[in-house]
Amino acid sequence: MERVGFMKIISLIVLAFLMMCAAMGEGATFDFEDGMNPGFAQSGSCVIAVNQHTEGNYSLSIGKRSQNDWDAADLSPAKAGIALGDTVKISFKAYQSSGKTGTIALAYAGGSYGILASAAFPSGKWVDVEGIFDYSEEQNLRFKVDDALANEEYRLDDIRITVLHAEENDKKQALDYQSDFSAGTDGWYARSAGTASISAQDGALTITGREATWNSPGRDFPLIAGTTYQVGVYVRQDAVDKADFMISAAHFRGGTESYENIVKATARKGEWTYLGATYVPGLYDNYVLYVETSNNGTIPFSMRDFFVNCNEVTYPMDLSSLKELYAPYFVVGTAVTQSEALNKERMDFYASQFGIVTAGNELKPDFVFDVGASRRAAKTDETAVVIKLDAAKPMLTYCYNHGIPVHGHTLLWHQQTPETFFLLGYSTSKGYASREIMLGRMENYIKLVMEETEKLYPGLIVSWDVVNEAINDNNGGLRDGLWRQTVGDDYILKAFEFARKYAREGVILCYNDYSTPYQPKLNGILKLLTDLTAQGNIDCYGFQSHYQLGSPSIKQVDDAMTSIANLGLKLRVSEMDITIDTYTPEMLEKQAKRYAELFDLYMRHADDILAVQLWGVTDDLSWLSGQYPLLFDRLAQPKPAFEALIAQIAQ
Ligand code: XIL
Repeated sequence: MERVGFMKIISLIVLAFLMMCAAMGEGATFDFEDGMNPGFAQSGSCVIAVNQHTEGNYSLSIGKRSQNDWDAADLSPAKAGIALGDTVKISFKAYQSSGKTGTIALAYAGGSYGILASAAFPSGKWVDVEGIFDYSEEQNLRFKVDDALANEEYRLDDIRITVLHAEENDKKQALDYQSDFSAGTDGWYARSAGTASISAQDGALTITGREATWNSPGRDFPLIAGTTYQVGVYVRQDAVDKADFMISAAHFRGGTESYENIVKATARKGEWTYLGATYVPGLYDNYVLYVETSNNGTIPFSMRDFFVNCNEVTYPMDLSSLKELYAPYFVVGTAVTQSEALNKERMDFYASQFGIVTAGNELKPDFVFDVGASRRAAKTDETAVVIKLDAAKPMLTYCYNHGIPVHGHTLLWHQQTPETFFLLGYSTSKGYASREIMLGRMENYIKLVMEETEKLYPGLIVSWDVVNEAINDNNGGLRDGLWRQTVGDDYILKAFEFARKYAREGVILCYNDYSTPYQPKLNGILKLLTDLTAQGNIDCYGFQSHYQLGSPSIKQVDDAMTSIANLGLKLRVSEMDITIDTYTPEMLEKQAKRYAELFDLYMRHADDILAVQLWGVTDDLSWLSGQYPLLFDRLAQPKPAFEALIAQIAQ
């Protein structure tokens, strides 16, 4: 009896200990400083060993490798403290000195061999690899390099693996903050390099002594990447007729601070004015929310009832599926931004409805072009380009691991491309680069983006927008952007020539534009497409399709589709959304009817249409969120437009 009692107590203690560990977030850290291998196993025919890379600094070396990419280091999930179904955060450092550039990745060591995190792996410097992934296959973890580093040795160090437990996530996700400032400044502080200060009185927080627009009340919040938050506040100023206010976020990652403006509103003198919006944070180490002005830099102001909370979004996984129902006609897809891609549940919902995905922003030049690294490279070669794919990786990795094809958007565009791309030395002081240099940069950029994405995610990207929005709305001529100014009128033909040269066999190359059905733009587009078709490198035209309720007419869209298809090109509806002015039952019905009519038209053109892709899923995260243009509301529930599309095809 006594013994049983004793055992019970022991098991209760063990259980309590396990529960404590679970709540704390398990995982493992390996810095190799004791010179011992903590359990990494050699895969393939290499030799792994813990030794010093500089005096007194130990790391894990993976050497004597053959040409096989599976000559790598494996780690069992048990040693890393990971169990099936865990959400895991990983970071590690890697080094190689082969003189070549390759890719370093964490992947499953079996099953799908899916990639969980990866990074470009240049020679001669320690690189940081970081990612959040769902451990969904009962496989070891493999730290590997790609074929570009065949036979080469590499090193690993400072491997940190943290399991983000559901309980921890729940705790943070349940964030429900609101302050009436009755208990003082409540953790808020003045963001200022000088004289600004805050004080709380009468249920409001007031900031004075501001010297710049960013001088603001700010507060740290434990936000979780990919979670959907509602943020709101009332602001008031008594200094000027009108002032624009913003709720913004500041976040750090890898020591670099960056900012986002979440919502903006104008406050008239003496009026408490509300500003609020949905915010889905991207992946950062920490987050500060703050309230600033975007003009009238230094006026004092007050705020009250700041809140941030997390809606319980229950994704409707049991709906009829658009992608399944329309599969006989075309693939239905959507655009996804990074913060959405970081939320696995949200992505699982998207994957249930959509069969092709595009990055809403993260494959555009302003995300991909690495200004600093390119500037350094340009010192020896003006045409050198360095790229980074970090922002797109959460989406690309999800799609790769779930077998969802991706459409690439976009290689060349006059917007979201830093002006530095066109400058000599990528530097503001030296003027624009010559045609020859710009052609070299264009070729290098297209080559790198296509080859890097292909290397990291073989076969994933099935089509690309090579050039976006090159035709002038008013006269149908070429838009006078910096590509045209630096290269000349043939820049589009050149881009398609390079894209064809570096695209994987079978990848579909598109020209993409908006306001297609309207003249004189349509004629301009047709002329450009005729030239591109004669050159033989274009496959497809992308109709962006950002439409309103009343315009364009179905006939206009129909005619434009027919005339473009008659050139022998395939069609994509690439960025569809339909705006409404107010969120009323009548408007939602009109929107539903309009979606159904357009899809009906697309079905009639199904022989030519490859994909119909929405520009987002839920209204709150749309680029036109104030006009509710999508199929799902902010709680991810289907709107009448979704129901109409299902009803139409299910008949
Ligand atoms: C939009 C994104 O959705 C926004 O988040 C961004 O701020 C601006 O660009 N035509 C295009 C898309 O080709 O790339 C644009 O996307 C919408 C219009």
